[in-house]
Amino acid sequence: MSIWARHKIFETNSVVLIVGILLVIAIGGLVEITPLFYLKSTIEKVDGVRPYTPLELAGRNIYIREGCYLCHSQMIRPLRDEIERYGHYSLAAESMYDHPFQWGSKRTGPDLARVGGKYSDDWHVAHLKNPRSIVPQSVMPNYAFLADNKVDVASLSDHLKTNRTLGVPYSDEDIAKAAADAKAQVDPEGAAAADLQKRYPKAVVRNFDGQPGDPTELDALVSYLQMLGTLVDFKLYDEKANLR
Ligand code: HEC
Repeated sequence: MSIWARHKIFETNSVVLIVGILLVIAIGGLVEITPLFYLKSTIEKVDGVRPYTPLELAGRNIYIREGCYLCHSQMIRPLRDEIERYGHYSLAAESMYDHPFQWGSKRTGPDLARVGGKYSDDWHVAHLKNPRSIVPQSVMPNYAFLADNKVDVASLSDHLKTNRTLGVPYSDEDIAKAAADAKAQVDPEGAAAADLQKRYPKAVVRNFDGQPGDPTELDALVSYLQMLGTLVDFKLYDEKANLR
């Protein structure tokens, strides 16, 4: 039987063809998937990436609760126009402590992966309270009520604990001090700020919403926005990776 005649068996018999297709896909799948089981980690370690402080984590929870991800992505693709607009493309390691990740699939507003440090706290407070006070054509909703809600700091230990079960390396000390850390992060004059920054390098300690007293949900959300994309020093990263 010639090769053409044998090929005809596949072409004229759909069951044989389907079995043949499944076999080829299975081999292709195994070749791609099997090596992943032998790698300890598929995420490259990157200097600077650390777990969220309790206040930043509270802000992230508010970000998820309010559905900010429906209009904002947090992933800069390695394409020229994105890099020119938003900065260095996102690394897998930058979202390694995100449960769930906030890459997003829709950009009604801009990508927020590197929004940290781009604006002042006052800008964020005014913008979140009423986006149209800053960008008249904005379709973003008002979130003024966040300034009136206090963060439930007593629950933060449990949030850290839950994240630890998912592999985020919070220490027993981090978990025990979660409520105190959240208060310390909005109190630059307080004695606990230095201790917080020792355990969470680059943690920004400021009165984000400008109101006195315990942290509000607005404090938490602004602290989260202000740290996005600020942990990795990309000058060192690109030198190491020989990209520049
Ligand atoms: C209905 C869609 C929508 C939702 C929901 C939304 N935004 Fe926006 N956002 C926008 C649009 C559009 C812009 C651009 C215009 C502007 O600055 O207001 C924007 C701009 C921003 C900016 C400025 C980004 C930059 O680089 O200039 C920030 C920060 C931001 N949004 C944060 C948030 C947060 C936090 C939430 C959730 C509490 C949220 N947004 C919810 C649509 C949305």
